[in-house]
Amino acid sequence: MKKIEAIIKPFKLDDVKDALDKLGIHGLTVTEVRGYGRQKGHVEAYRGVEYQVQFNAKVKIEVVISDDMAQKVVTAIRETANTGNIGDGKIFIYDLSGVVRIRTGETGDQAI
Ligand SMILES: Nc1ncnc2c1ncn2[C@@H]1O[C@H](COP(=O)(O)OP(=O)(O)OP(=O)(O)O)[C@@H](O)[C@H]1O
Ligand SMILES: [Mg+2]
Repeated sequence: MKKIEAIIKPFKLDDVKDALDKLGIHGLTVTEVRGYGRQKGHVEAYRGVEYQVQFNAKVKIEVVISDDMAQKVVTAIRETANTGNIGDGKIFIYDLSGVVRIRTGETGDQAI
């Protein structure tokens, strides 16, 4: 199993959710977050000029899927969240060692 964590622009959330629905994804978690990447939150890097880091609003999507779905999910998020502009976000991919469905006690792929 894999956990995919994607940090995206908030206005892209609905499109990404629709794309994941089409792949048959059964569940996900969304969190409002703030962060910055290599431009430190600014539209442009001002070379040689000191400036403060600025946190930008982003949305974090966490989705757990079986190994064979991982590449499809990453590609769907990448293509849907992409505007071609800076700040489009990042996708982090984790190996996941366990899942338990609390109601039934099912584990692993059965619990996704
Ligand atoms: N190395 C990182 N670790 C954790 N979170 C990150 C990292 N890089 C980016 N993020 C998160 O992703 C958000 C978007 O990052 P962003 O797309 O600006 O990355 P970037 O590397 O600067 O790429 P780009 O040049 O396309 O802007 C950030 O606001 C932050 O929340
Ligand atoms: Mg950036």
